[in-house]
Amino acid sequence: MSEVVSPGNGLQPRTQSHISQNPSFVLQSLKNVSFEDRPVPKLRDEHDVRVHIEQTGICGSDVHYWQRGRIGDFVLDSPIVLGHESAGTIAEVGSKVKNIKVGDRVAIEPGVPCRRCDYCREGSYNLCADTVFAATPPHDGTLQKYYIVASDYVYPIPDHMTAEEGALVEPVAVAVQIGKVADLRAGQTVLVFGCGPIGVLCQAVAKAAGASKVIGVDISESRAKFAEDFAADGVFVNNKKLVEGVDPVDAARAVGEEIVVRYGLGEGADVVLECTGAEPCIQAGIFAAKKGGTFVQAGMGRENVLFPITTACIRALTIKGSIRYSTGCYPQAVQLIASGKIKPSKLITHRYKFTEAENAFEVVRQAQENTLKVIIEGVPK
Ligand SMILES: *[C@@H]1O[C@H](CO)[C@@H](O)[C@H](O)[C@H]1NC(C)=O
Ligand SMILES: [Zn+2]
Ligand SMILES: [Zn+2]
Repeated sequence: MSEVVSPGNGLQPRTQSHISQNPSFVLQSLKNVSFEDRPVPKLRDEHDVRVHIEQTGICGSDVHYWQRGRIGDFVLDSPIVLGHESAGTIAEVGSKVKNIKVGDRVAIEPGVPCRRCDYCREGSYNLCADTVFAATPPHDGTLQKYYIVASDYVYPIPDHMTAEEGALVEPVAVAVQIGKVADLRAGQTVLVFGCGPIGVLCQAVAKAAGASKVIGVDISESRAKFAEDFAADGVFVNNKKLVEGVDPVDAARAVGEEIVVRYGLGEGADVVLECTGAEPCIQAGIFAAKKGGTFVQAGMGRENVLFPITTACIRALTIKGSIRYSTGCYPQAVQLIASGKIKPSKLITHRYKFTEAENAFEVVRQAQENTLKVIIEGVPK
């Protein structure tokens, strides 16, 4: 059985004889987290590896389970270890593992799909209904000393890449998938709503794909400033309050049209990547898209919104959704970072020790303007 210890003194051995094995940061129930010392997890089969976790990035979904206990159909019914954006060092390999050896440094892809369904077989394994995804109920996440994962879902990172960069392969892979869904081509103009981690990484992925112009949009001056320094060619700060009596869709249309004029997007952006989930951004994005253009929804906000469907129809837009990552995204994300084309560690605004994990979550929950990426160091060897 696992032993529950209180947060504050989390990982300190209580007595000389108590040696921690696998300290874990556990979401016990809604808004209730604590540290547990669990047994070191065992390989489930001969293709598994055990990774000593070195860095873990925190993202909105982790905080969402903590605060709300559910995302869509995934409901927290029993305790789970949190965390899914991690990198570490291989500590043990199963007898049939050939691609990796003990001591290798790796980025961990946190979702291992069933491998057998039609989606898996065609490479769209992000759509597999039978995926073991870290920190998605009922599966444990990576905020523990050791994590077990299939050997083909870890990716070696070169020596010059830090463990922090290894952990941030995850959000970069999310952005790579968004770019793949959008079918980004060199020379396109790309408008990205949102200058949070995924937004700015999409901007960087678009630049790396050869976009002729990448424009970021945010309501925050400081996030927009960061986006401009990071990858965007231009940023639009939309902090105007809605004027009473003005139809919100008309206001969104005006914003979309203003962006097109201000940044010289001609008849509109070739590609719009929506990374906020905010209704006015979704609307403005449709109005800012060029005829025949592509609009990709990647942000998640309210479940239902008022959508300018007639404009989408008349402009013959291709409208798609993007979720997680599919075949090839992780290797490409590692490559983008290793080559220096994307420098995701610039996103890190807060760093915490493992024993301070709850503080890290609190900072993400508060979502202040100056918070971009929060990262937690693993339990030392
Ligand atoms: C938090 O979870 C633990 C373990 O299940 C439990 O003992 C404790 O009472 C819970 N605390 C609160 C405030 O619910
Ligand atoms: Zn994430
Ligand atoms: Zn499958």
